[in-house]
Amino acid sequence: MKTKIFNSKQIKQAADLIKKGELVAFPTETVYGLGANALDSNAVKKIFIAKGRPSDNPLIVHISKKEQINEIAYIPISKKRLVNKLIKKFWPGPLTIILRKKKIIPDEVTCGLKTVAIRMPKNKIALSLIENSKVPIAAPSANLSGKPSGTSFRHVLKDFNGKIAGIIKSKDCEIGLESTVIDMTADKPMLLRPGLISFEKLKKIIPKLSLFSCNNLCNNINKVKSPGIKYKHYSPNAKIILFNTKDFNKIKIYENKLKKQNKKVKIIKTSKKISFAKKLFKIFRDADEKKIDFLLIQSVEESGIGRAIMNRLKKASYKIIN
Ligand code: TXA
Ligand code: MG
Repeated sequence: MKTKIFNSKQIKQAADLIKKGELVAFPTETVYGLGANALDSNAVKKIFIAKGRPSDNPLIVHISKKEQINEIAYIPISKKRLVNKLIKKFWPGPLTIILRKKKIIPDEVTCGLKTVAIRMPKNKIALSLIENSKVPIAAPSANLSGKPSGTSFRHVLKDFNGKIAGIIKSKDCEIGLESTVIDMTADKPMLLRPGLISFEKLKKIIPKLSLFSCNNLCNNINKVKSPGIKYKHYSPNAKIILFNTKDFNKIKIYENKLKKQNKKVKIIKTSKKISFAKKLFKIFRDADEKKIDFLLIQSVEESGIGRAIMNRLKKASYKIIN
């Protein structure tokens, strides 16, 4: 298949492909998405094939207007006030809300779950694509299953050239980490995936909010709240060693030790959290391209977006040194 590359002025053409049931990768403020008409089960099936995604890992449905949430999900009366507050404060933006789904959303999107994940992105191209397609767009992160989420056009092209109908070319994604996912269906709302919109910020609106912890649930697949969590996440071929220390010398000593063993080593000194988040997945992909053996990474404080960074780093790491 020849993949058409669109620029930001050709969104209508890209939307025509979505309408025809084809796949189009598009930028969002978090990571690129691999989109299909969320109401067309055949189109949605193509996402799973193109990514090589396990068939029990559900997709996020992207909308372009806040009111569209009512077309695809039920907001329980007991949660109406809180959900409305979340939407008012964080949409459009990097927050995904899980609610009970309406019939219009095919089972292929939710992998048979009765709930659906919904997000209204902030990126203008994403919004325009959804609007012009005239349907909600189901989209996981645009990466082959097992690779880090694509945060630049180059990454998306590398993974999907020849495999999907179109890609909208744009600049690198601003945030660089996937959206925060919050489950509003349970009695006690739960943060399933940390992102830029932090646990601390959400807790101000939902004081009862709990934090999903893998220790509680990961051993029991039946209880897994967010199916994506049970899959092994991407780690680069390079072994990541995560240092919970402010003492940079300790990292340097480790580097020297590895270099003496003729290993190709790179130290990643963490700068400002927000800029580190933006480049994290690029660091992973570059390490593979450059055939690096060890990435020595300094950990960041686990608050704000730091929680999201550490979540991705811990999943990818080979060893954690205190
Ligand atoms: O920032 C993002 O969220 C990006 C952009 C494209 O919007 N999308 C993204 O999608 O990261 P994906 O598919 O890579 O991650 C979605 C996560 C997965 O962990 C999945 O298991 C979870 O959301 N999820 C989706 N529907 C769910 C549901 N009904 N219940 C629980 N978890 C759900
Ligand atoms: Mg993903």
